[in-house]
Amino acid sequence: APFTGTLRSISPFPFGGAVNASLLRNRPSYSQLAAKEYSSITAENAMKMNALRPTATSFNFTDAEYIVDFARQNNARVHGHTLNWYTSLPSWVTNFSGDSTAWENLLRTHITTVVTHFRGKVASWDVVNEAFEDTGVLRNSIWVRHLGPDYIARAFQYAAAADPAARLFYNDYGHEYSTAKRTAIFALVASLRSRGIPIHGIGMQFHTSSNISDAQLASTIAQAGQTGLLVHISELDISMNPSKATTATFTPALAAAQKVKYKAVTTAFRALPAAQRFGITTWNVADADTWRRGNCSCPEWPLPFDDNYQRKPAYDGIVEAL
Ligand code: XIL
Repeated sequence: APFTGTLRSISPFPFGGAVNASLLRNRPSYSQLAAKEYSSITAENAMKMNALRPTATSFNFTDAEYIVDFARQNNARVHGHTLNWYTSLPSWVTNFSGDSTAWENLLRTHITTVVTHFRGKVASWDVVNEAFEDTGVLRNSIWVRHLGPDYIARAFQYAAAADPAARLFYNDYGHEYSTAKRTAIFALVASLRSRGIPIHGIGMQFHTSSNISDAQLASTIAQAGQTGLLVHISELDISMNPSKATTATFTPALAAAQKVKYKAVTTAFRALPAAQRFGITTWNVADADTWRRGNCSCPEWPLPFDDNYQRKPAYDGIVEAL
């Protein structure tokens, strides 16, 4: 019989997507699909520092609030992304000159103000995003240069102080292909916990591809579960054109292979202890709007919905695993 449910109607854990504020406002087919399928919402860009902080002394919450309201109206959770990142910074930050006290104030004021603003509406946050290189060394970001490596711990402390009930995540990519990076991330998280720094979850982006085996995807998810923390597959999309061929087309064979990948990720996630399953979030809704097209300047079809917002075989793979 044809499937008549939705992801949110059948998933035993929150299933969501990142959304773009202007598409949500202007394209009914997009907003209706997100409302129908998702029980969790992440802002694709609207809660990043360059979106929230036009100037050093002002905050613009307009797009972020629009997304929060959309989620509320549709009875979906909002996951906050992201309080700290090395990029998507406003130019006043990249050009900021000040001593370490001034930088510390900048970090603390941003986190405190944003988390306080959304307290009661956003119950979880990516506190620090992408602090590591693929080699497992800490990225030499603007934050490390001005504040040293322990800015990560302080970012978590500032977030917890502003909302003691919030679930706080360390979010990054590459766990599934770099053992060195995965090991470094799990070590960071263990070290923060042993110091009593409030951290509750690991976000694994999973901007992944057909190059990564099902077994590799599954074992990465299982290893994240071994930390005992909440696990969020936080930005899932699966490229079927990893060689970035400019002439590639989305054949039925590629669609079928992608279905297997989506099913493998969902099956492995489902196998985690229920209390650790924070959820799966895809990065945007449909192929039409995926960031990965811009990222590779090549044809990409990484999401469970197509260019017309219709379900793909990848969607059926998720359904079969749920
Ligand atoms: C991306 C968005 O999808 C793009 O629209 C934007 O131009 C750049 O950021 N890792 C992350 C996300 O944590 O915030 C990124 O999102 C994709 C990679």
